[in-house]
Amino acid sequence: MTKSTLAIHGGQPVRSQPWPSWPQWDESERAGLLAVLERGEWGGYDTAVEEFETAFAARHAAQHCVTTVNGSTTLETALRALDIGPGDEVIVPPYTFIATAAAVRIVGATPVFADVDIESWNLSAEAVAAAVSPRAKAVIPVHFGGLPVDFDALLPLARRHNLHVIEDAAHAHGSSWSGNPVGALGKTGSFSFQSSKNLTAGEGGALLTNDAELAERMWSIANCGRSTEGPGYEHPNLGTNLRLGGWQAAVLSAGLARLDDQLQRRMSNARRLRAFLVEIDGLTPQRWDPRADAHSHHLFLMRYDADAFGGLPRRQFISALRAENIPVSPLYSRPLYRQPPLVEPFSRVTPCPNSERLCQQAVSISQNILLAEPDEMDDIARAILKVRENVGALL
Ligand SMILES: Cc1ncc(COP(=O)(O)O)c(C=O)c1O
Repeated sequence: MTKSTLAIHGGQPVRSQPWPSWPQWDESERAGLLAVLERGEWGGYDTAVEEFETAFAARHAAQHCVTTVNGSTTLETALRALDIGPGDEVIVPPYTFIATAAAVRIVGATPVFADVDIESWNLSAEAVAAAVSPRAKAVIPVHFGGLPVDFDALLPLARRHNLHVIEDAAHAHGSSWSGNPVGALGKTGSFSFQSSKNLTAGEGGALLTNDAELAERMWSIANCGRSTEGPGYEHPNLGTNLRLGGWQAAVLSAGLARLDDQLQRRMSNARRLRAFLVEIDGLTPQRWDPRADAHSHHLFLMRYDADAFGGLPRRQFISALRAENIPVSPLYSRPLYRQPPLVEPFSRVTPCPNSERLCQQAVSISQNILLAEPDEMDDIARAILKVRENVGALL
């Protein structure tokens, strides 16, 4: 192997400064937490929960918000509240985090895997149309990496087939489609506040909807089957305890106040990075549909074509970039229908060549990197060029 200046061979890395850390917080989180502490009513629904729910719903132009402990139980709660269970099918993408499809199995229904679009990485409306059966009751599009799904194609299709649209907006806080924030554009939308997410309290989840009855059912499921009107020991519904704590709600309200500034910064840095990537053969960024006027960029996504890098396997490309202190990830190693709990016959699988391809080609950068200064994006560009120029030394 030839010697090179690559950091993986002991050379000076392109970057020595740390990237912005995540999570970020300041005195407003501290003050919110202290207020919960001093109110001294640590269980049940602290007033911080309602405050956050109101603000989060308003930010997404939704009428109702129901919080829960995470963005997995939100999906299960939505499915239960829509009476989806054994005998029903729910269409999901296989290129996503496991919770999207596991929730369907957990409520006793069957996940049906339909492919994603290779350019947007989002569920393809054509693939959904081909996967629909008379048993299909709902579809769960994921706004992957924060890019809203093509609602103009998906909503009419769902209406035609009588499918509930449950948006998995775990990546998409603040994203919008043609001016409309995601989350309540379908029947309901599910958000996660897990530690990597653009709005986080370490854990936590929320459902948005404009359907008051559905909101009430979801709230009841998340609060031991109670009704909003009845006494605490009356349980008209089967529910469990998924209540978000006041501590987390206080942290989320403080973070929400920062969301829009961060969203703008991520979008502007993403544009700078994209302008560089169009010049680079072999790295294709996720297509940013102009109708997605806000794209949260939870993930900055690219497809890597090894042929354009002299046949350098993706694994080695990623290792070389990491050595230059550019933290990139290959994301999911396999489509969800090849995870043991979701193989057939626990699921139904339609052909998903694009999802297979993304599992081979994805290179992802997480949202906190996009919070750096604009000229720091050039470190990413410099590192990619350095790896490219030295590819011979890696083969
Ligand atoms: C697309 C997607 N859906 C659902 C979830 C589940 O959220 P949580 O980790 O809060 O349970 C995640 C979390 O990583 C996710 O990425």
